[in-house]
Amino acid sequence: MSPIGVFDSGYGGLTVLREIRQLMPEYDYLYLGDNARAPYGPRSFERVYEFTLQAVRRLFDMGCPLIILACNTASAKALRTIQQRDLPLIDPSRRVLGVIRPTVEVVGELTQTRHVGIVATQGTINSRTYELEMAKLHPDITVTGQACPMWVPLVENDEADSPAADYFVHRDINRLLERDPQIDTIILGCTHFPILYNKVCAHTPANIRLISQGEYVASSLQDYLSRHQDIAARLSRQGQARFLTTEQPSNFAPSATLFLGHPVEAEQITL
Ligand code: DGL
Repeated sequence: MSPIGVFDSGYGGLTVLREIRQLMPEYDYLYLGDNARAPYGPRSFERVYEFTLQAVRRLFDMGCPLIILACNTASAKALRTIQQRDLPLIDPSRRVLGVIRPTVEVVGELTQTRHVGIVATQGTINSRTYELEMAKLHPDITVTGQACPMWVPLVENDEADSPAADYFVHRDINRLLERDPQIDTIILGCTHFPILYNKVCAHTPANIRLISQGEYVASSLQDYLSRHQDIAARLSRQGQARFLTTEQPSNFAPSATLFLGHPVEAEQITL
């Protein structure tokens, strides 16, 4: 098997995997959630890079020719170094892609006011990766980032429907909009946040568009594979998915089943 590897610190990447599988069910997928060490959001650059590289190496060892870092924090803090420094040494014929670039690419067509907000982890906001990518592709867009450090723990602890989620989502969306009232588009810049989509909708004025990354990452991957036939040809196509977690599988399986809409059996690994 030569599956597409999909990596996240925890469950969030499942929101991306769901969209990718919907669009390209023919491929095989190997999902890895580093649940034992989630959340990555508050961790230093060095730790996120170290953990992400360990995951990438493992997914390569398990036969993935292509890996998607379905995690903004890892995409922001580790992707560039892995692509530029590690990949040429490990295996230049393999590929590691992130989720930030495909998201930034589509935003230019969606905002009218040219004022865009980003809600994400502390790590993603501090890295300023969205601002940098936006400046390259859409220099006329003003970007305001809002760190939402409580949102990932709410999702990871199955509290996405709780009053606590209402409190923190309301507070953080208000903080963002107070800083730039002209925002007409908000990027959910963390792959855990689609799980909070209904809450974010409820606390955001109806004229503001919310962008969930999954569908854009999926169509960008489809486009990438059509342009890189050499990579596409190396991927196996039996329509299967396998799930790995660094925590207990008995914790992972019920949440994963909820996010994906079908039963999931996970295997435990150590990185
Ligand atoms: N889901 C990840 C992201 O997109 C990571 C969240 C975390 O582990 O803090 O940023």
